Amino acid sequence: MKKFFALALALILVLSLAACGGDKKDDSSNGGNETQTQQPAGNGGSETKEPEQKSAGSIGVCIYKFDDAFMTTYRNALEKILKEKGYEVTVVDGNNDQAKQNEQINTFITQGVDALIINPVMTSAADTIIATVKDADIPTVLINREPTGDQMAAYDKLVYVGCDAAQSGTFQGELILDTENKGDINGDGKVSYIMIQGDPENIDAQLRTEYSVKALQDAGIEVEQLNLTRGDWDREKGQTICANDLAQFGDKIEVVFCNNDDMAIGALQAIQSAGRKVNEDIYLVGVDALDAALNEVSNGNMTGTVLNDAEGQAAGAVAEMEKLLGGATYAAGEQSVYVDYVKVTPENVKDFMK
Ligand code: GAL
Repeated sequence: MKKFFALALALILVLSLAACGGDKKDDSSNGGNETQTQQPAGNGGSETKEPEQKSAGSIGVCIYKFDDAFMTTYRNALEKILKEKGYEVTVVDGNNDQAKQNEQINTFITQGVDALIINPVMTSAADTIIATVKDADIPTVLINREPTGDQMAAYDKLVYVGCDAAQSGTFQGELILDTENKGDINGDGKVSYIMIQGDPENIDAQLRTEYSVKALQDAGIEVEQLNLTRGDWDREKGQTICANDLAQFGDKIEVVFCNNDDMAIGALQAIQSAGRKVNEDIYLVGVDALDAALNEVSNGNMTGTVLNDAEGQAAGAVAEMEKLLGGATYAAGEQSVYVDYVKVTPENVKDFMK
């Protein structure tokens, strides 16, 4: 009889372990790269009942691609805050593939997450994403790629947390206006520039491109665009584009506008290889305030950058998510929450360095 009970107990143990393994398998079906910061669901097979560590809720986070310098800082900040607040978090990599991200959103919905935080791959996919989360009735915070107010109005448990991209463009223009010759290094009465653009489908790329130049024009300065090339936010592309432009336009280039810092760091390599010197015979500005860019601003190798506040946006995204979890809804026209950009110059750069 004793033997029978021992066998039965062993069987139960084996079965419950198998069930745990099964859960794990389901989680990994989110596909490819993902990081999980979940508390273990059970007691890891231990017999003693510990006081239940109740999760604050389960959150699915979709990032457009992990291989993006700024979004890496952002997602790390997001994960840290959520984890500290006791949420079960799963962060997945969309690999810059909207179809893949759509699947990941559907998987999260099937798994019954309490809320979603989504950095869309394509802004143009916003309608589909919003329809999907609305249909599933899941509170959702969109980040980094802002849809239009009309698109968001379709679902009242949806909010966007990000920055006003036009502001970062204006600040870039102002960084050039703040130089001793207002960007006109050769004194020919106009500022000749190249523009290295992010992904042009993205509103950040569109508005930074427009407003950086507009700031110069609004100050009464004549501008000449020598070239505009898409660099998709990517450091290597920034370097190649800038090297090609320097070969083609040489000393004519007075300003290199980059829609983000990673491309600016690439451009700096090209500038240095061409024997040019930032702040002496060429100006260079970016956006994000990545650590590498802060170093270069401090060393005088970048004219300036603009803080894209990853930590502030992550904290804002979690705060809005918690409002939604608490039952809040958002009226049309009030679904965008902005965090300010900050101009980073050689004078204040130390305040941003960790
Ligand atoms: C921007 C950021 C870029 C890139 C992009 C991705 O806000 O400045 O570096 O991360 O988001 O959408």
